[in-house]
Amino acid sequence: MSTTVITGANRGIGLELVSQCMERGDTVVAGCRNPNDAPELSELAPAQIVALDVGNEASVESFTQSIAGPVDLLINNAGTSVSNLGLDRELAGVLKAPIDLTLDLIRINGLSAAAVTRNLLPHLESGSQVVNITSQIGSMVVGANFNDLPYAASKAVMNMVTVQLATQLKEAGISVVAFHPGWVRTDMGGSSADLSVHESAAGILSTMKTFRHEDTGSFLRWDGTVHPW
Ligand SMILES: NC(=O)c1ccc[n+]([C@@H]2O[C@H](COP(=O)([O-])OP(=O)(O)OC[C@H]3O[C@@H](n4cnc5c(N)ncnc54)[C@H](OP(=O)(O)O)[C@@H]3O)[C@@H](O)[C@H]2O)c1
Repeated sequence: MSTTVITGANRGIGLELVSQCMERGDTVVAGCRNPNDAPELSELAPAQIVALDVGNEASVESFTQSIAGPVDLLINNAGTSVSNLGLDRELAGVLKAPIDLTLDLIRINGLSAAAVTRNLLPHLESGSQVVNITSQIGSMVVGANFNDLPYAASKAVMNMVTVQLATQLKEAGISVVAFHPGWVRTDMGGSSADLSVHESAAGILSTMKTFRHEDTGSFLRWDGTVHPW
């Protein structure tokens, strides 16, 4: 039986990943900020629901300490936006974005993938996989035209965390991959987005089923095609 750890598991893409991983028989450890206010996740009843604020190192440590045994798949999915941090998108461009808020977003969306993976390392072994849910906006090519510095910079940091983890963990047999999940109908993606959470999560999970370790450090779209950096 496989064990899968998913962050930001109480709604959106994370919740759907929990559902699909449970459906295929994985033991799922779900991290979310408020386990007592996660009705849809509680209804799915994964093996563990554990409090996790990915922007807080003490919380990341206590989350990973609650996990026992080997972890086959870690999905660093939790993420937020400038609007969630109280900033009008109009004020998020590179000529206006407040630096402190930009740093907050980089910590939550970018560096958290390093923090969670590092702390979970004792549970990762040869054959384990780490999936970082980034965004096409973190790509230099696509991000150049997206007038939201904090989000773009935070996902660019996550992309760098991905390639550096891939290098450091390659010899240990642990694969690390960045995924653009597509434009997905969630609170973040909005109702006019292209993809359902089902399509996005199913694409990511089936891509990882056949993923070859020699491709560690890749940047992929949800459907398994390669995304430019
Ligand atoms: N939807 C899209 O079109 C799209 C496109 C590209 C990339 N992405 C990425 O995909 C991931 C999932 O996004 P989504 O569309 O499912 O967004 P969503 O519906 O807004 O869900 C975001 C999830 O992340 C959690 N989260 C936020 N800040 C957190 C923190 N500090 N600690 C722990 N959990 C935190 C949220 O928990 P709370 O309920 O506690 O806030 C929620 O569970 C994100 O990394 C996002 O950047 C999404």
